Amino acid sequence: MKLLVLGGSSFVGRAVVEDGLRRGWTVTTFNRGRGAVVDERVQRLLGDRLRREDLAVLAEGTWDSVVDTWSGAPRAARDSAAALADRVTRYLYVSSGSVYAPPPPLGGDESAATVDAAPDAEDGDYPALKRGSELAIEAAFGDRALFARAGAILGPHEDVGRLPWWLLRMDRGGEVLAPGPADLALQYIDARDLARWLLDAASDGLSGAFNVVSRSGHATMGTLLDACRQVTGGTARLTWVDPGHVHRAGIQAWSDLPIWLPPDHEYRGMHEADVERAHAAGLECRPVQDTVKDTWQWLLSIDKQPPLRPDLERPGLDAAAERAALARWHAGPGGR
Ligand SMILES: NC(=O)c1ccc[n+]([C@@H]2O[C@H](COP(=O)([O-])OP(=O)(O)OC[C@H]3O[C@@H](n4cnc5c(N)ncnc54)[C@H](OP(=O)(O)O)[C@@H]3O)[C@@H](O)[C@H]2O)c1
Repeated sequence: MKLLVLGGSSFVGRAVVEDGLRRGWTVTTFNRGRGAVVDERVQRLLGDRLRREDLAVLAEGTWDSVVDTWSGAPRAARDSAAALADRVTRYLYVSSGSVYAPPPPLGGDESAATVDAAPDAEDGDYPALKRGSELAIEAAFGDRALFARAGAILGPHEDVGRLPWWLLRMDRGGEVLAPGPADLALQYIDARDLARWLLDAASDGLSGAFNVVSRSGHATMGTLLDACRQVTGGTARLTWVDPGHVHRAGIQAWSDLPIWLPPDHEYRGMHEADVERAHAAGLECRPVQDTVKDTWQWLLSIDKQPPLRPDLERPGLDAAAERAALARWHAGPGGR
């Protein structure tokens, strides 16, 4: 198999490259060369995909599959798809559950309504960029295109900072505000499971849209935070706090307390999507304990300094805000 990865040096793209090499595939990447060299066996093509003339380096090759992790202007996905349509069998795009019209429906499958978007757009918000890119790729590849609509992606090399924040918070020890309920069901995907599923899908000739995350409840807030506490040495003490109290303390779900979306949150559908299509097509999700353990090992290997995508704000709760919310929680109803 000959695989081309557009991107391939960051988080998800790196996992795809590593999975391809593990299978013995011939792997080529196309990016600007700013990131790490993932493996010397990779054939590296350099260029800026926002400059159409740079796509000339793709003009020669033929590939069985292309995996694209693009999240910028759809016109870049349009141009790469058009340039490759005659020489690549299948185009797999790492898309997002954000393409669904907000709020994402509880139990929604791939037929749920999507946001309005244009395949030629130069700009837009994240959902429109992702959906516009899907449309651009579909226009060139038709039923040879696959859209893997991921939710929260976790695992080693995460550059969004969600699981790294929880791990580093537990590592600091002391009393930790654990947003409840502990049995709150989560849905996410380990980047390595996403990569494996994508390349299996490429081999199997799958196409169309798939929600590619774990089943809801594969992990819970409790199993996630317990795993984080244990791998970091167990010095942290979890205090489970009622969602209403967290809200009244002015603490934001998802951004201040990464991954957490309480039961009545309007975006709760992000943890309760229907994922049976991807599971029927072979999706397997490793236990949350493995994702947490491997992510912690990676954080230790980089001196606990996780990278952050330049276009994002680092998520996480300020220590003083956490202490204040816990103090009010312990003060009981009168003090809250
Ligand atoms: N994180 C989540 O929870 C989440 C959830 C759902 C979906 N997703 C999707 O998952 C994907 C994440 O992919 P990722 O982590 O591998 O990478 P990414 O951050 O989307 O892209 C980075 C890669 O693209 C290359 N790149 C960036 N700008 C470029 C340009 N102008 N021309 C050519 N190459 C360029 C980078 O290398 P150079 O800088 O060297 O060019 C790097 O290899 C995204 O599509 C995101 O929308 C993420």
